[in-house]
Amino acid sequence: MRPDRFVTNRLVLRPLQVADAAQVFETYAADIEITRFLTWTPHRSASQTVAYLAGCVATPVDRLRSYALTSRNDGTPQGAFDLRRIAPHRLEFGMVLARRAWSHGLMSEALRAVVNWASAQAAVWRIGATCDVENGASARVMQQDGLLPEGVLRRWAIHPNLGDRPRDCLAFARARHNPSCDHTTAGR
Ligand SMILES: CC(C)(COP(=O)(O)OP(=O)(O)OC[C@H]1O[C@@H](n2cnc3c(N)ncnc32)[C@H](O)[C@@H]1OP(=O)(O)O)[C@@H](O)C(=O)NCCC(=O)NCCS
Repeated sequence: MRPDRFVTNRLVLRPLQVADAAQVFETYAADIEITRFLTWTPHRSASQTVAYLAGCVATPVDRLRSYALTSRNDGTPQGAFDLRRIAPHRLEFGMVLARRAWSHGLMSEALRAVVNWASAQAAVWRIGATCDVENGASARVMQQDGLLPEGVLRRWAIHPNLGDRPRDCLAFARARHNPSCDHTTAGR
């Protein structure tokens, strides 16, 4: 169901491979700042990254597609984008980008392509993600690409780089409008 690749003005999203391990490790997986709000701790060795990628690749593509974000010019890996099928109608995503590439609109560009694709799929009724309440860049990217804020999920996820207690997260989604459940018009 999900495409093998997405192509944007500056990026190609193509399947992440175990062979990408060295670059993934150097580009973002071992970086304390990049992994700060993620659900995993920085990798300590390239072999840990190999094991991580092997797990991604071994997951049926029906459940998870892990894409490498690569430069359209020269194929340089810039980050990654995970697209998970949580239920037949519902997709969730995760995103990470090399620090050197932050704040150039790259992830907004990638996410826009994926959300546009998802919106055109009859089987997909909702695409969304959560982020730590303090992850301003992630929240901004999602809002820029037309995902709507759905509120705070109290104690939703453990972000181990910030401690061992579950943290509050913000939820964002693009969902097909459902007039019969439109709370804003209910009772009118
Ligand atoms: C989140 C992330 C993917 C964003 O990628 P990016 O390509 O830098 O994002 P963009 O450049 O498309 O957009 C970032 C927007 O957030 C804004 N921003 C950056 N830091 C911010 C902060 N701390 N608070 C609020 N907004 C912030 C930028 O100004 C920009 O908005 P603008 O276009 O209106 O100026 C990247 O920062 C990253 O990899 N972070 C570490 C991993 C992570 O936290 N992933 C998300 C997990 S839910």
